[in-house]
Amino acid sequence: MGLKAVVVTVLLAAALSYYVYNPMPDAIQEPWKLMAVDAAFRTGVNLAALKYHLGIDHYITSFRRTMQGFDSTMVALLGSRPPAGVVPGVKVSDITFAGVPVRVYEPPAGGEGHLRRGLLYLHGGGWAFGSGKMGAYDKVGRMISDELNTVVVSVDYRLFPEVLFPEPFLDCAAAAKHFLSPEVLDKYAIDPERVAVSGDSAGGNLAAAIAQEVATDDSVPVKFSVQALIYPVLQALDFNTPSYVQNRNMAILPRQVMVQFWLQYLGADISLQPQLIANNHSALQHSVLTPELRSRLDWTSLLSQKFKKSYKPVVAERDSHGLLKKIPGLLDVRSSPLLAGPEVLAKCPRAYILTCEFDVLRDDGLMYARRLKDAGVSVTSDYYEDGFHGCLSFTSWPLDFDVGKRALRNYMTWLQNNL
Ligand SMILES: *[C@@H]1O[C@H](CO)[C@@H](O)[C@H](O)[C@H]1NC(C)=O
Repeated sequence: MGLKAVVVTVLLAAALSYYVYNPMPDAIQEPWKLMAVDAAFRTGVNLAALKYHLGIDHYITSFRRTMQGFDSTMVALLGSRPPAGVVPGVKVSDITFAGVPVRVYEPPAGGEGHLRRGLLYLHGGGWAFGSGKMGAYDKVGRMISDELNTVVVSVDYRLFPEVLFPEPFLDCAAAAKHFLSPEVLDKYAIDPERVAVSGDSAGGNLAAAIAQEVATDDSVPVKFSVQALIYPVLQALDFNTPSYVQNRNMAILPRQVMVQFWLQYLGADISLQPQLIANNHSALQHSVLTPELRSRLDWTSLLSQKFKKSYKPVVAERDSHGLLKKIPGLLDVRSSPLLAGPEVLAKCPRAYILTCEFDVLRDDGLMYARRLKDAGVSVTSDYYEDGFHGCLSFTSWPLDFDVGKRALRNYMTWLQNNL
């Protein structure tokens, strides 16, 4: 090997280890696999940022293309996705509900008069990425439809940067209300007492918000009977909960990425990131943040000692930027379902809330579980001490994680027994 080749090899190896080497907590099984996934994510993000700075592409569109390319490569390699509509058993159709694109999975028709369950699914991806049609989501849609005799409707709501809050919420609400209409339930032979709303991450945020919206809208005659939230995003006023601090550099979803997703979704400037990470936006000077409103996300009273450990609340005195006026969406229950009052929570359907130890969003989910219970709602809190954000999307070889497969199985079992 010539000197040039040696230098190039050493530089490449150094660059590679910079990407790959983000040490994982001991409790994570298969840490190397997670480091590889994390490295792939960060490479995609950095390449997108580079192209953006060079003026080649919007960084979101660019990262989306990378993800789609990766997704179709995996699907082609694994051959895991049969062509739409020809799976034995499940019928797949891409149509619209109230103008919103959806993919519908129908199980084989039962006997005459046999009603099926229904499930509305909202995918994750920080309100900017993803699609219900992506390999991992498509697989789960087919599995639920087939194994649980359920009509699954996976919603492709619009994303940032094409639209901002509240448009994605409004797309989901329109699709949900269309799904719950007596004519549509009848058309698909769905039992109106057995319809779920579910979603993961940003989709879990939308699912919780839609559950509240439907529960409190008297013009919707049929209600969701259960909500199943997978590591949901539920609030944007405290980015210093114990889970946000503990997992601020964790794989898949570091704190600054989650804060960026929030700023994008709410139509605010991304340069405000450090202000939000310092909790300046929820500073004591804001009189709209009454003690009663603060108590709705006060982790010092809503979390058990096991999760509080010795973390201290971060409360800023002053906010010199008037952030709450600049970003009104921060106080909107349609973006932050954890801010809803007990009278709204009391009307919400029975809940399953999945949380992972190695996830900035763990405490959002744990606090919501506690507040729903306090409001008299029946809640199953399914917590994974070896789980990480996004693990349910990693259940297919070679990117399969034991905790993802376990969590998916338990989610489906809960639906089987409760929907
Ligand atoms: C938070 O606000 C305080 C008071 O206005 C300011 O001094 C501080 O620099 C802000 N923090 C960040 C990270 O911008």
